[in-house]
Amino acid sequence: MTTITTQHGAATASPSSAPANPPPVETTPLPAFDATDVSIYYTPAKAAVQNVDIQIPARSATAIIGPSGCGKSTFLRCLNRMHELVPGAKMTGTILLNGENLYGPKIDPTVVRRRVGMVFQKSNPFPTMSIKENVLVGLKLNGVRDRAFLQERLENSLQMAALWDEVKNDLDRPGVSLSGGQQQRLCIARAIAVQPEVLLMDEPASALDPIATAKIEDLIHQLKREYTIVIVTHNMQQATRVADQTAFFYLGKLIEFAPTRDLFNNPREKQTEAYITGRFG
Ligand SMILES: Nc1ncnc2c1ncn2[C@@H]1O[C@H](COP(=O)(O)OP(=O)(O)OP(=O)(O)O)[C@@H](O)[C@H]1O
Ligand SMILES: [Mg+2]
Repeated sequence: MTTITTQHGAATASPSSAPANPPPVETTPLPAFDATDVSIYYTPAKAAVQNVDIQIPARSATAIIGPSGCGKSTFLRCLNRMHELVPGAKMTGTILLNGENLYGPKIDPTVVRRRVGMVFQKSNPFPTMSIKENVLVGLKLNGVRDRAFLQERLENSLQMAALWDEVKNDLDRPGVSLSGGQQQRLCIARAIAVQPEVLLMDEPASALDPIATAKIEDLIHQLKREYTIVIVTHNMQQATRVADQTAFFYLGKLIEFAPTRDLFNNPREKQTEAYITGRFG
């Protein structure tokens, strides 16, 4: 049913003039993160990240690249308010997560960290916990007690992290007794067990051999069907393999953000070109 306005300005319905199939309304999907004018400081005098505007699409993988010290980890950490754990760290600007202000007065940072999971460069299983306990710790902290549910989530998370087959008969072994690559996949299983909306990964494969790295990259391809992934990497081949779009940071600024293929094949900015061709960094 369409609505027409009469000469007097009152709206009346006109069933007879309704088109049979109105054209679909074009809507732009909401980005997972919408950051505006974000600056991050460890000391008031100097911004580690300066005036970043970026819209990170949902259900895809976004890579952040750039030379050491350019602010990649700092920016990543402010996407789940992890930087607030550094005494004195401060952020200005706004970040929306699925349209909601991540830094709103009613938002609990611990809930944010549940919605936005993080995997670090160095794997960090809880040392006193078994493989199983490591995966389930977040759910148990959230009060989940249903054994069948926990068992199912344990298996699913380890399957998704491509670790299940290697550990299914050893679930009570300490998490730290696994190899480095297995520990990293255990940490990924732990991060996805609470079903976050977003997974942040800070150089998740930098300490891994090519086989373990390939497993993590396969996993990113699987996960991005359901999750939003943001991955910091020093490995530009890795960015081209896993990321739909890539952001290049330099000296705390976002220099360029583009579909990965465009950024590497046809960079718009001189600094991006210099970096990807190995002229600095
Ligand atoms: N906890 C901290 N306290 C004070 N300064 C910090 C802290 N963490 C990072 N910085 C500073 O902020 C800037 C950006 O650091 P950040 O760790 O974000 O860089 P990065 O791009 O991740 O580098 P890398 O590739 O080496 O990991 C650097 O100048 C760094 O010294
Ligand atoms: Mg870093």
